[in-house]
Amino acid sequence: MTEPKYRDLAEALRRRIAQAPVGTPTPSERELAEESGVSRMTARRAIDELVRAGLLTREVGRGTFVAHPAVGMPLQLTSFTDDMLARGHVPSSEVLEARLVPADEQIASVFQRDPGDPVFLLSRVRLADGVPMAIERSHLRADLLPGIESHDFARESLYRVLLDEYGVRFDGGEQVIRAAIARPDDAKTLKIPPQSAVLEFVRTSSSDAGVMEWTTSIYPGTRFELSAQIAPVTAQGSAPRSALRVRG
Ligand code: GLP
Repeated sequence: MTEPKYRDLAEALRRRIAQAPVGTPTPSERELAEESGVSRMTARRAIDELVRAGLLTREVGRGTFVAHPAVGMPLQLTSFTDDMLARGHVPSSEVLEARLVPADEQIASVFQRDPGDPVFLLSRVRLADGVPMAIERSHLRADLLPGIESHDFARESLYRVLLDEYGVRFDGGEQVIRAAIARPDDAKTLKIPPQSAVLEFVRTSSSDAGVMEWTTSIYPGTRFELSAQIAPVTAQGSAPRSALRVRG
């Protein structure tokens, strides 16, 4: 069977934009149809395919542009700020919520505290070069971080404040990663199509005082990829601890 016409066209377009810098405008449906001698419907399907693959982004009223390439996620206890700086991007944040709240049952059990104990809730949009990369909802042990709510996390890095102001040095943690469908409001904030696939990271980080941070981060599935170091299983069977768990 031959490939449908739009697939060939998508492939040709993919090759054409392979070396183009992020943000380069790409031909409109009409232009693409005209120059390739195909119908507008075929041109639209070809463009749609590259948008779905995360190679192009459509901006309403402006056109279609070469998208950011997929960004690798390290499996380490690094901060968003440091990750993005290390990749040559300029990190920034928009604060959606920052306030003290009483721990509910679930949060209390994560922190091994009592329900009702104070926790600091911080929700942020994390951006790289002005492009939304993630939504992060963090909970922190407020009893050990007096005055944390007075920081401006639109400007400051959370991990930097924890270290510099409170001497919190994380020494371990767990990160659970799952695939999910973006919630409608998250899709809007991340500027991704409704119902898009996202990666959800749930990080629990601890210092010598116990669990300090519990953060859920939502990353667009088309902009991120995960890579993990794999090592042979040793005689004791003590390979790095990671597991693919079935969600019940
Ligand atoms: C990463 C982690 C979060 C952590 C954040 C801190 O994104 N997944 O769990 O809260 O970094 O970032 P920053 O120090 O830039 O505020």
